Amino acid sequence: MTTTLRDIEDQCKKCTKCPLHEGRTNGVPGEGNPHAEIMFIGEGPGKDEDLQGRPFVGAAGKFLDHLLSTVDLKREDVYIANVVKCRPPNNRDPLPEEIAACWPYLEAQIRAIKPILIVTLGRHSMGRFLPGLKISEAHGKAKRYKGIDGGKQVYYPMYHPAVALYNGSYREILIEDMKNIPVLLQKIKKENLNER
Ligand code: URA
Ligand code: SF4
Repeated sequence: MTTTLRDIEDQCKKCTKCPLHEGRTNGVPGEGNPHAEIMFIGEGPGKDEDLQGRPFVGAAGKFLDHLLSTVDLKREDVYIANVVKCRPPNNRDPLPEEIAACWPYLEAQIRAIKPILIVTLGRHSMGRFLPGLKISEAHGKAKRYKGIDGGKQVYYPMYHPAVALYNGSYREILIEDMKNIPVLLQKIKKENLNER
């Protein structure tokens, strides 16, 4: 039996596999196009996300919407998820064991959606896929890396949109990095065709 995206979303909402479930109002599995070419992966739900059960709906989410609009993308075109599906207390960083406990959900989402580009938002998300890199050096550069399902995925690290809210100089960097995505997507599609 194949696991559908809806099954995964339902499982996250009921999950008690790590202590983060104790403080949640709602699990936040993720949302968007089930056949998205691009998946954006953040860290974990904040207060607004926990209250609404939807990813990136607070201030950082508004900026992500803006970033998407600069390259003519809408939330409905892409899939937006997080490495942990329940809000860490006081928005602290997710612990390695929480990220590990939640990983099967994210992996199942990636297998179901089969995106051709995975955009990681922030250090924790990048670290899950591309360990050992420094975000100050790795942001805005695409990497092919052994991925899910034995395949090669293309990853594209970006800073977390929330950093632009605290430090305006990151705003332009995020806008610049987002600008590359449409070109990158076309390039990957061409390469994938050539590889067949
Ligand atoms: N920050 C995240 O990493 N994810 C969200 O869903 C919201 C804010
Ligand atoms: Fe389950 Fe993930 Fe929530 Fe932990 S964070 S309870 S593993 S859904």
